[in-house]
Formats: sequence, C-alpha cells, structure tokens
Amino acid sequence: MTNNTELAVATWNLTKTYKTGFWLNQQITSLQNCSITVAKGETFGLLGPNGAGKTTLLKILLGITKASSGKAQILGRPLGDQMVRQYIGYLPENAYFYNHLSAWEFLEFTANLFTMPASLSRTRIKQLLDLVGIAQSTAKKKQMKHYSKGMLQRVGLAQALINDPDLILLDEPMSGLDPLGRYEVREIILSLKQEGKTIFFNSHVLTDVERICDRLAILAAGEILCIGSLKELLGDYDNSLEDFFISQIKPKIYS
Ligand SMILES: Nc1ncnc2c1ncn2[C@@H]1O[C@H](COP(=O)(O)OP(=O)(O)O)[C@@H](O)[C@H]1O
Ligand SMILES: [Mg+2]
Repeated sequence: MTNNTELAVATWNLTKTYKTGFWLNQQITSLQNCSITVAKGETFGLLGPNGAGKTTLLKILLGITKASSGKAQILGRPLGDQMVRQYIGYLPENAYFYNHLSAWEFLEFTANLFTMPASLSRTRIKQLLDLVGIAQSTAKKKQMKHYSKGMLQRVGLAQALINDPDLILLDEPMSGLDPLGRYEVREIILSLKQEGKTIFFNSHVLTDVERICDRLAILAAGEILCIGSLKELLGDYDNSLEDFFISQIKPKIYS
C-alpha cells in the first residue's frame, strides 16, 4: 500500500461482516471487497439502495466501525490516524441535535470540541450561518426543537464544516427534505465544491448524484458494481442514469 497524496480516499478490498442474532451466531456481510478511490477536490457520490452498505463504508472511513478485512487511507494516512481527523467533516445520516440548544450554542459546542479559541469560533460560526442561510438572530434565539427538518439539516452541514475540513463526508444529506430543502442543500454542496473541497456523499437518490457529482460508484448488497464519471458509466448507453442504475442493481438484488 503506497501513500498517494493526490487521493482523498482510497480503499482496498474493504469487507465488513457483522455478527447478529441472539447468540451472535449469524453473519451479515455489509461490505464485500470494496475498492474505490476519490481524488482530492472531487465530488464523489456513492449511490445505492437502502441496505447497500453506504453508511457502513462511511463509518469505516471515519473509524466509527472497524473493517473485518481490507485497507483504506484518508488524505494519504491510514484509518484511525488522529492527525487526519481535524481535516474531516461529517454529517451523519440521522444527525442528533440537542433540542434545547440554539443553533449558535450547538455550533459553539462543536467548535469547542476542536478546542477552537472563542474569537475564532465566533467568526467561523457567522461565516457558516451565512453559507447555510440561517440568520444570526434566529440561530441565537431559537431552540432547535422549533427548527424545520430543512433548517436542522443546514445546521448539521454547518457543524460538519466548523473545522474548515478538506474532506467532507455526508450521509444522505438531502434525505427527508422537501424539494426546496433539497435544492438549498444541493446549492450549499455546490458552493463547497467551488471552494475546492473534496465531497464524498451517500445517496439513494439518482438526481442528486447526477447533478452534483464528478464521479460516482454504485453499491448494492455490499459490492461496488461500477465506478467512474457519469459519461464513463453511461457511455453510448442512450438511457438515463435511472435505467442504468436499475440494470446494474437488479441482478444483485434478485440473485
Ligand atoms: N451494527 C450493525 N449490526 C448488524 N447489521 C448491521 C449493522 N449496521 C448495518 N448492518 C446491516 O448492514 C447492511 C448495510 O447497512 P447500511 O450500511 O446501513 O446500508 P445503507 O446505508 O446503504 O442503507 C444492512 O443489511 C444492515 O442491516
Ligand atoms: Mg445509510
């Protein structure tokens, strides 16, 4: 395994098997020989149906879950490297928000976890609120239990960006949002892309991937079925990504 400094993410045959059942005598293979690369500055979409293993892969990359076998690097460093954590931002699939806190308090709390000085955290929080489109007065006054799903997702994005990360890992960032909410989150992701950030995001929604990504991979039943740019994958295939996606995953799902 060589250190490739041009790659933000590289995995080699990552496999994850969970033991389940009362006696832990059953096994579920959530990820099987998963090998992908994501270049720095790229927006990469991991597309797959529910249960494909998308969250499992992100959790392994973040060091939340350990792979059963295989290897991976983030920003040229092995998984679990403490230094690399400060360059990563993460929005979980079902982010938990402290209901009684205001967005401002929550973001201050997140900044504290990075031991950010108070003056720097204030500046950063203001910048991020601007980016995600939440007024400072609302962020300071309103407890998050009164926020809509779309607003909470924007707060989630702000917390993922508090440390100005180079690599941003987003797990289903548009899920559960109405069309306007999806549009707004997509615009935020596109502005991060313009800043040159590397974005890795999981989705089961084809249009989100189609509109944002430089490259994508299709994951089904734990296996990477294909990887490349939309153009590379569709090639002379006249039909839509949807048709392509279905043609790829159908044999896996019904096998
Ligand atoms: N902690 C766990 N224990 C047992 N099985 C799990 C666990 N986490 C995920 N799985 C299983 O692994 C598979 C992939 O799950 P997941 O990575 O959450 O998929 P996705 O994010 O693509 O919907 C599913 O079958 C799921 O039930
Ligand atoms: Mg998931």
